[in-house]
Amino acid sequence: MSEVEILPLQLPHLDAVLDLGYRSFDVKAMPYTSWSLSSVAAHWDAQPDACWIARDEEGLLGFVLGSLSYDEREDWGYLEWIALEERARGLGVASSLVERCCAALFAAGASRIITDVESGNAASAAMMRRNGFAEKVTVTLFVRPNPREHTATGSHSAQDPARSRLRRAARASGGTPAT
Ligand SMILES: CC(C)(COP(=O)(O)OP(=O)(O)OC[C@H]1O[C@@H](n2cnc3c(N)ncnc32)[C@H](O)[C@@H]1OP(=O)(O)O)[C@@H](O)C(=O)NCCC(=O)NCCS
Repeated sequence: MSEVEILPLQLPHLDAVLDLGYRSFDVKAMPYTSWSLSSVAAHWDAQPDACWIARDEEGLLGFVLGSLSYDEREDWGYLEWIALEERARGLGVASSLVERCCAALFAAGASRIITDVESGNAASAAMMRRNGFAEKVTVTLFVRPNPREHTATGSHSAQDPARSRLRRAARASGGTPAT
């Protein structure tokens, strides 16, 4: 890997960031279902100085996205998304990104920063612990499936996150939801 640069997220990075996110997060499973261009834009809009990318000569290596606030608390920062290309993992790049994001959130007035780590994500948990985060509250999602849904596969377009967002946007604007 050639020299690593850590840079503020800019418009030309968006395509590669979105693509790396889709390859890194299982968007069919919690807590990653909300990964989307809108999610990137929400952080970038609210707190551009808390959104960073890492790159080398070959291209994008990773990103971190954070903003104020979390759960209606204006003084809590939220480091929501971080991902690295496989070739950049285990080299301290994640820590550099976390550091830039946290520095910006503290400078913006955060009294604490929250990040949520899925219980099976050992790499993320270890990396967050090494960067000053400690477990506070564990939330387990209990799920009751609809008994009328017999198969997990099939044409369940209603579950497609992008389509759901389109429907919500169409409803909000009073338009006709896409099918
Ligand atoms: C989470 C992520 C950014 C961490 O970056 P990283 O470069 O792998 O982090 P580090 O190497 O600094 O730290 C990872 C630690 O977990 C360990 N680890 C890596 N993969 C592991 C695995 N599959 N199981 C258990 N431990 C693992 C590493 O040995 C290291 O341990 P150490 O702290 O004792 O050295 C990266 O793994 C990633 O992009 N994952 C996919 C996206 C993701 O899950 N993001 C988090 C949710 S938004």
